[in-house]
Amino acid sequence: MRLPNRVVLAPCTRNRATADLSPSAGAADYYAARAEAGLLVTEAILITPDAQGYLDTPGLFLESHTTAWSVVTRAVHDRGGRIFAQLWHTGRISHSHWSKCQPVSASAVLDPVLRRQAGGNTLYNEMPRALRSDEVAGVVDLFRLAAQRALDAGFDGVEIHGANGYLIEQFLRQHTNRRDDEWGGGTAARARFALEVVQACLGVWGPGRVGLRLSPAAYFGEMQWRSGDNETYAHLLQSLRSLPIAYVHTGVVEDKFYSELGATSSGFLRQHWPGVLIGNGGYSPESAAQQVTQAAFDLIAFGKLFLANPDLVPRIFSGVPLQPYTAETLQSLR
Ligand SMILES: Cc1cc2nc3c(=O)[nH]c(=O)nc-3n(C[C@H](O)[C@H](O)[C@H](O)COP(=O)(O)O)c2cc1C
Repeated sequence: MRLPNRVVLAPCTRNRATADLSPSAGAADYYAARAEAGLLVTEAILITPDAQGYLDTPGLFLESHTTAWSVVTRAVHDRGGRIFAQLWHTGRISHSHWSKCQPVSASAVLDPVLRRQAGGNTLYNEMPRALRSDEVAGVVDLFRLAAQRALDAGFDGVEIHGANGYLIEQFLRQHTNRRDDEWGGGTAARARFALEVVQACLGVWGPGRVGLRLSPAAYFGEMQWRSGDNETYAHLLQSLRSLPIAYVHTGVVEDKFYSELGATSSGFLRQHWPGVLIGNGGYSPESAAQQVTQAAFDLIAFGKLFLANPDLVPRIFSGVPLQPYTAETLQSLR
Protein backbone atom coordinates (compact mmCIF):
# COMPACT_ATOMS: atom_id res chain seq x y z
CA MET A 1 0.00 0.00 0.00
CA ARG A 2 1.23 3.46 -0.80
CA LEU A 3 0.17 6.03 1.77
CA PRO A 4 -0.06 9.76 1.04
CA ASN A 5 1.46 10.68 4.43
CA ARG A 6 2.84 9.11 7.61
CA VAL A 7 -0.04 10.07 9.90
CA VAL A 8 -2.14 7.22 11.35
CA LEU A 9 -5.37 7.41 13.32
CA ALA A 10 -4.64 5.35 16.45
CA PRO A 11 -7.33 2.83 17.37
CA CYS A 12 -9.65 4.55 19.85
CA THR A 13 -12.60 2.86 21.52
CA ARG A 14 -15.64 5.12 21.27
CA ASN A 15 -18.32 3.11 23.17
CA ARG A 16 -20.92 4.07 20.61
CA ALA A 17 -22.01 0.66 19.25
CA THR A 18 -25.69 -0.18 18.84
CA ALA A 19 -27.55 -2.79 20.90
CA ASP A 20 -26.46 -5.61 18.54
CA LEU A 21 -22.86 -4.29 18.66
CA SER A 22 -22.87 -2.82 15.16
CA PRO A 23 -20.93 0.42 14.66
CA SER A 24 -23.15 3.44 15.31
CA ALA A 25 -24.75 5.41 12.50
CA GLY A 26 -22.25 8.17 13.27
CA ALA A 27 -19.22 5.91 12.81
CA ALA A 28 -19.10 6.38 9.03
CA ASP A 29 -18.93 10.17 9.44
CA TYR A 30 -16.41 9.87 12.29
CA TYR A 31 -13.96 7.81 10.21
CA ALA A 32 -14.63 9.61 6.90
CA ALA A 33 -13.90 12.94 8.61
CA ARG A 34 -10.38 11.62 9.36
CA ALA A 35 -9.81 9.98 5.95
CA GLU A 36 -6.91 12.28 5.05
CA ALA A 37 -4.70 10.19 7.34
CA GLY A 38 -2.23 7.90 5.63
CA LEU A 39 -4.02 5.08 7.44
CA LEU A 40 -7.01 4.82 9.76
CA VAL A 41 -7.16 2.06 12.35
CA THR A 42 -10.62 1.47 13.80
CA GLU A 43 -11.58 1.31 17.43
CA ALA A 44 -11.01 -2.21 18.81
CA ILE A 45 -13.58 -4.63 17.34
CA LEU A 46 -14.71 -7.76 19.20
CA ILE A 47 -14.15 -11.06 17.38
CA THR A 48 -16.67 -12.82 19.63
CA PRO A 49 -19.46 -11.75 22.04
CA ASP A 50 -17.63 -13.78 24.71
CA ALA A 51 -14.87 -11.15 24.69
CA GLN A 52 -16.92 -8.07 25.58
CA GLY A 53 -15.51 -6.20 28.55
CA TYR A 54 -16.70 -2.65 28.06
CA LEU A 55 -19.93 -0.86 27.29
CA ASP A 56 -21.09 -0.60 23.67
CA THR A 57 -17.98 -1.81 21.88
CA PRO A 58 -18.63 -3.01 18.32
CA GLY A 59 -18.17 -6.50 16.91
CA LEU A 60 -17.38 -8.29 13.69
CA PHE A 61 -18.90 -11.70 14.37
CA LEU A 62 -22.38 -11.40 12.81
CA GLU A 63 -23.43 -10.98 9.20
CA SER A 64 -25.14 -7.73 10.24
CA HIS A 65 -21.79 -6.43 11.56
CA THR A 66 -20.18 -7.03 8.17
CA THR A 67 -22.97 -5.05 6.52
CA ALA A 68 -22.74 -2.22 9.04
CA TRP A 69 -18.94 -1.94 8.75
CA SER A 70 -19.18 -1.91 4.95
CA VAL A 71 -21.04 1.42 5.27
CA VAL A 72 -18.03 2.75 7.20
CA THR A 73 -15.40 1.46 4.76
CA ARG A 74 -17.37 2.84 1.79
CA ALA A 75 -17.56 6.29 3.42
CA VAL A 76 -13.79 6.26 4.03
CA HIS A 77 -13.01 5.07 0.48
CA ASP A 78 -15.34 7.71 -0.97
CA ARG A 79 -13.11 10.27 0.75
CA GLY A 80 -9.97 8.59 -0.66
CA GLY A 81 -8.91 6.98 2.65
CA ARG A 82 -7.60 3.59 3.78
CA ILE A 83 -8.87 1.77 6.89
CA PHE A 84 -7.73 -1.29 8.86
CA ALA A 85 -10.02 -3.07 11.37
CA GLN A 86 -8.48 -3.65 14.80
CA LEU A 87 -9.39 -7.21 15.88
CA TRP A 88 -9.80 -7.70 19.63
CA HIS A 89 -10.22 -10.38 22.24
CA THR A 90 -10.07 -8.94 25.74
CA GLY A 91 -9.41 -12.29 27.49
CA ARG A 92 -9.53 -11.79 31.26
CA ILE A 93 -10.91 -8.26 30.87
CA SER A 94 -14.21 -9.55 29.43
CA HIS A 95 -17.14 -9.53 31.82
CA SER A 96 -20.13 -11.82 32.25
CA HIS A 97 -22.33 -8.73 32.59
CA TRP A 98 -22.11 -8.56 28.79
CA SER A 99 -20.66 -11.88 27.67
CA LYS A 100 -22.84 -14.08 29.93
CA CYS A 101 -19.86 -16.40 30.43
CA GLN A 102 -16.71 -16.64 32.51
CA PRO A 103 -13.72 -14.81 31.01
CA VAL A 104 -11.01 -16.93 29.43
CA SER A 105 -7.28 -16.23 29.48
CA ALA A 106 -3.95 -18.01 29.11
CA SER A 107 -4.14 -18.90 32.82
CA ALA A 108 -6.45 -18.24 35.76
CA VAL A 109 -4.87 -14.96 36.93
CA LEU A 110 -7.14 -12.13 38.02
CA ASP A 111 -6.60 -8.46 37.24
CA PRO A 112 -7.69 -7.10 40.62
CA VAL A 113 -7.76 -3.44 39.63
CA LEU A 114 -9.82 -2.58 36.58
CA ARG A 115 -13.45 -1.79 37.27
CA ARG A 116 -16.05 0.00 35.20
CA GLN A 117 -19.60 1.25 35.49
CA ALA A 118 -22.51 -0.32 33.65
CA GLY A 119 -26.17 0.44 34.25
CA GLY A 120 -25.43 1.94 37.67
CA ASN A 121 -23.37 -1.08 38.79
CA THR A 122 -19.65 -1.17 39.44
CA LEU A 123 -18.25 -4.18 37.64
CA TYR A 124 -15.11 -5.73 39.09
CA ASN A 125 -13.00 -8.04 37.00
CA GLU A 126 -13.86 -11.72 37.27
CA MET A 127 -11.46 -14.62 37.73
CA PRO A 128 -10.78 -16.02 34.25
CA ARG A 129 -10.42 -19.68 33.50
CA ALA A 130 -7.44 -20.95 31.52
CA LEU A 131 -8.28 -21.94 27.96
CA ARG A 132 -7.95 -25.69 27.60
CA SER A 133 -5.31 -26.84 25.11
CA ASP A 134 -8.06 -28.19 22.87
CA GLU A 135 -9.79 -24.77 22.85
CA VAL A 136 -6.89 -22.57 21.73
CA ALA A 137 -7.20 -23.37 18.01
CA GLY A 138 -10.85 -22.35 18.19
CA VAL A 139 -9.93 -18.89 19.46
CA VAL A 140 -7.32 -18.51 16.70
CA ASP A 141 -10.09 -19.43 14.29
CA LEU A 142 -12.30 -16.65 15.70
CA PHE A 143 -9.57 -14.19 14.67
CA ARG A 144 -9.51 -15.80 11.20
CA LEU A 145 -13.30 -15.54 10.86
CA ALA A 146 -13.28 -11.88 11.91
CA ALA A 147 -10.43 -11.21 9.44
CA GLN A 148 -12.60 -12.76 6.73
CA ARG A 149 -15.56 -10.58 7.72
CA ALA A 150 -13.25 -7.55 7.63
CA LEU A 151 -12.31 -8.50 4.07
CA ASP A 152 -15.98 -8.93 3.16
CA ALA A 153 -16.79 -5.55 4.73
CA GLY A 154 -14.33 -3.79 2.42
CA PHE A 155 -11.56 -2.99 4.90
CA ASP A 156 -8.04 -2.50 3.50
CA GLY A 157 -6.47 -4.77 6.11
CA VAL A 158 -6.58 -5.78 9.75
CA GLU A 159 -4.58 -4.85 12.82
CA ILE A 160 -4.36 -7.59 15.44
CA HIS A 161 -4.70 -6.12 18.93
CA GLY A 162 -1.79 -7.75 20.71
CA ALA A 163 -1.31 -4.84 23.11
CA ASN A 164 -2.72 -3.22 26.25
CA GLY A 165 -3.06 -6.31 28.41
CA TYR A 166 -5.69 -8.17 26.38
CA LEU A 167 -5.75 -11.85 25.44
CA ILE A 168 -2.70 -11.94 23.16
CA GLU A 169 -0.57 -10.08 25.70
CA GLN A 170 -1.95 -12.40 28.41
CA PHE A 171 -0.33 -15.26 26.46
CA LEU A 172 2.93 -13.34 25.95
CA ARG A 173 3.65 -12.47 29.58
CA GLN A 174 4.77 -14.81 32.34
CA HIS A 175 2.56 -13.03 34.87
CA THR A 176 -0.60 -14.18 33.09
CA ASN A 177 0.74 -17.23 31.23
CA ARG A 178 1.49 -20.05 33.69
CA ARG A 179 0.78 -22.78 31.13
CA ASP A 180 2.99 -25.80 30.55
CA ASP A 181 1.52 -26.96 27.24
CA GLU A 182 2.51 -25.83 23.71
CA TRP A 183 1.42 -22.24 24.53
CA GLY A 184 3.43 -21.73 27.71
CA GLY A 185 6.45 -22.69 29.74
CA GLY A 186 9.10 -21.12 27.51
CA THR A 187 9.89 -18.11 25.37
CA ALA A 188 8.83 -19.62 22.04
CA ALA A 189 5.74 -21.23 23.53
CA ARG A 190 4.48 -17.94 25.01
CA ALA A 191 4.89 -16.25 21.60
CA ARG A 192 3.12 -19.07 19.80
CA PHE A 193 -0.48 -17.88 20.23
CA ALA A 194 0.35 -14.43 18.81
CA LEU A 195 2.12 -16.02 15.84
CA GLU A 196 -0.78 -18.38 15.20
CA VAL A 197 -3.20 -15.44 15.12
CA VAL A 198 -0.90 -13.55 12.73
CA GLN A 199 -0.68 -16.57 10.44
CA ALA A 200 -4.45 -17.10 10.51
CA CYS A 201 -5.04 -13.48 9.47
CA LEU A 202 -2.32 -13.65 6.80
CA GLY A 203 -4.11 -16.72 5.44
CA VAL A 204 -7.15 -14.53 4.79
CA TRP A 205 -5.43 -11.31 3.72
CA GLY A 206 -2.11 -12.27 2.16
CA PRO A 207 1.01 -10.08 2.26
CA GLY A 208 1.11 -6.47 3.40
CA ARG A 209 -2.38 -6.23 4.89
CA VAL A 210 -1.98 -7.51 8.45
CA GLY A 211 -0.54 -5.35 11.22
CA LEU A 212 0.19 -6.25 14.84
CA ARG A 213 -0.02 -3.94 17.85
CA LEU A 214 2.25 -4.76 20.78
CA SER A 215 2.97 -3.23 24.20
CA PRO A 216 6.45 -4.38 25.20
CA ALA A 217 6.15 -2.04 28.21
CA ALA A 218 3.68 -3.71 30.56
CA TYR A 219 1.88 -0.53 31.40
CA PHE A 220 -1.84 -1.30 31.16
CA GLY A 221 -4.42 -3.76 32.46
CA GLU A 222 -2.36 -4.69 35.53
CA MET A 223 0.15 -6.55 33.41
CA GLN A 224 3.24 -7.18 35.50
CA TRP A 225 6.62 -7.25 33.81
CA ARG A 226 8.81 -10.25 34.58
CA SER A 227 12.43 -10.82 33.72
CA GLY A 228 12.34 -12.87 30.53
CA ASP A 229 9.34 -11.09 29.00
CA ASN A 230 11.65 -8.99 26.79
CA GLU A 231 13.04 -12.23 25.35
CA THR A 232 9.52 -13.36 24.46
CA TYR A 233 8.89 -10.10 22.59
CA ALA A 234 12.31 -10.35 20.91
CA HIS A 235 11.53 -13.91 19.83
CA LEU A 236 8.12 -12.89 18.50
CA LEU A 237 9.56 -9.97 16.53
CA GLN A 238 12.36 -12.15 15.18
CA SER A 239 9.78 -14.73 14.02
CA LEU A 240 7.66 -12.00 12.39
CA ARG A 241 10.58 -11.07 10.13
CA SER A 242 9.92 -14.09 7.94
CA LEU A 243 6.20 -13.30 7.67
CA PRO A 244 4.81 -10.74 5.19
CA ILE A 245 3.07 -8.51 7.70
CA ALA A 246 2.36 -4.84 6.98
CA TYR A 247 3.68 -3.32 10.20
CA VAL A 248 4.24 -3.49 13.92
CA HIS A 249 2.47 -0.79 15.95
CA THR A 250 3.50 0.49 19.38
CA GLY A 251 0.72 0.40 21.95
CA VAL A 252 1.53 2.71 24.84
CA VAL A 253 -0.01 5.79 26.43
CA GLU A 254 3.35 7.56 26.72
CA ASP A 255 6.35 6.48 24.68
CA LYS A 256 8.79 7.33 27.48
CA PHE A 257 11.90 5.46 28.68
CA TYR A 258 10.99 2.22 30.47
CA SER A 259 13.87 0.90 32.58
CA GLU A 260 12.72 -2.71 32.19
CA LEU A 261 13.00 -2.30 28.40
CA GLY A 262 16.14 -0.17 28.55
CA ALA A 263 14.44 1.96 25.90
CA THR A 264 11.19 3.62 24.96
CA SER A 265 8.43 1.30 23.87
CA SER A 266 8.91 2.22 20.18
CA GLY A 267 12.68 2.10 20.66
CA PHE A 268 12.51 -1.46 22.00
CA LEU A 269 10.38 -2.56 19.06
CA ARG A 270 12.77 -0.86 16.63
CA GLN A 271 15.73 -2.75 18.12
CA HIS A 272 14.07 -6.03 17.20
CA TRP A 273 11.96 -5.11 14.17
CA PRO A 274 13.52 -3.66 11.01
CA GLY A 275 10.23 -3.48 9.09
CA VAL A 276 7.56 -0.79 9.07
CA LEU A 277 7.04 0.50 12.61
CA ILE A 278 4.24 2.79 13.78
CA GLY A 279 5.26 4.88 16.76
CA ASN A 280 2.67 6.09 19.24
CA GLY A 281 2.16 7.51 22.68
CA GLY A 282 2.01 11.16 23.63
CA TYR A 283 3.58 12.58 20.48
CA SER A 284 2.95 16.03 19.05
CA PRO A 285 3.34 16.55 15.30
CA GLU A 286 6.71 18.20 16.01
CA SER A 287 8.13 15.46 18.24
CA ALA A 288 6.79 12.82 15.84
CA ALA A 289 8.41 14.50 12.84
CA GLN A 290 11.70 14.50 14.68
CA GLN A 291 11.46 10.76 15.37
CA VAL A 292 10.49 9.98 11.78
CA THR A 293 13.41 12.05 10.50
CA GLN A 294 15.73 10.01 12.73
CA ALA A 295 14.09 6.80 11.41
CA ALA A 296 13.07 5.84 14.96
CA PHE A 297 9.78 4.85 13.37
CA ASP A 298 8.15 5.12 9.95
CA LEU A 299 4.66 6.29 10.79
CA ILE A 300 3.08 7.95 13.79
CA ALA A 301 -0.31 7.16 15.24
CA PHE A 302 -2.17 9.95 16.99
CA GLY A 303 -5.00 9.06 19.37
CA LYS A 304 -6.16 11.94 21.55
CA LEU A 305 -5.09 14.68 19.13
CA PHE A 306 -6.92 12.98 16.26
CA LEU A 307 -10.05 12.61 18.40
CA ALA A 308 -9.95 16.33 19.16
CA ASN A 309 -9.00 17.37 15.61
CA PRO A 310 -10.82 15.45 12.85
CA ASP A 311 -8.92 17.67 10.39
CA LEU A 312 -5.58 16.85 12.03
CA VAL A 313 -3.75 16.18 8.75
CA PRO A 314 -4.53 19.50 7.01
CA ARG A 315 -3.88 21.30 10.30
CA ILE A 316 -0.43 19.69 10.56
CA PHE A 317 0.52 20.47 6.99
CA SER A 318 -0.75 24.06 7.08
CA GLY A 319 0.50 24.79 10.61
CA VAL A 320 -2.95 25.57 12.03
CA PRO A 321 -2.88 25.22 15.87
CA LEU A 322 -4.45 22.04 17.24
CA GLN A 323 -7.46 21.83 19.53
CA PRO A 324 -6.46 20.27 22.87
CA TYR A 325 -7.96 16.92 23.92
CA THR A 326 -10.32 17.46 26.86
CA ALA A 327 -12.71 15.36 28.91
CA GLU A 328 -15.53 16.61 26.68
CA THR A 329 -13.87 15.37 23.48
CA LEU A 330 -15.18 11.82 23.91
CA GLN A 331 -18.69 13.06 24.66
CA SER A 332 -18.74 14.92 21.35
CA LEU A 333 -18.34 11.69 19.31
CA ARG A 334 -21.26 10.04 17.56
C1 LIG B 1 -10.52 7.16 24.29
C2 LIG B 1 -9.41 6.20 23.94
C3 LIG B 1 -9.73 4.94 23.48
C4 LIG B 1 -8.72 4.03 23.12
N1 LIG B 1 -9.05 2.81 22.60
C5 LIG B 1 -8.08 1.98 22.12
C6 LIG B 1 -8.41 0.82 21.38
O1 LIG B 1 -9.58 0.52 21.12
N2 LIG B 1 -7.39 0.04 20.93
C7 LIG B 1 -6.07 0.34 21.17
O2 LIG B 1 -5.17 -0.39 20.75
N3 LIG B 1 -5.73 1.47 21.86
C8 LIG B 1 -6.70 2.30 22.30
N4 LIG B 1 -6.37 3.49 22.90
C9 LIG B 1 -4.94 3.88 22.98
C10 LIG B 1 -4.57 4.77 21.79
O3 LIG B 1 -4.59 4.01 20.57
C11 LIG B 1 -3.15 5.35 21.94
O4 LIG B 1 -2.25 4.28 22.09
C12 LIG B 1 -3.03 6.28 23.14
O5 LIG B 1 -4.11 7.20 23.18
C13 LIG B 1 -1.71 7.05 23.11
O6 LIG B 1 -1.59 7.83 21.93
P1 LIG B 1 -1.89 9.43 21.93
O7 LIG B 1 -0.98 10.04 22.95
O8 LIG B 1 -1.57 9.88 20.54
O9 LIG B 1 -3.32 9.62 22.32
C14 LIG B 1 -7.35 4.39 23.28
C15 LIG B 1 -7.05 5.67 23.77
C16 LIG B 1 -8.06 6.58 24.08
C17 LIG B 1 -7.67 7.95 24.57
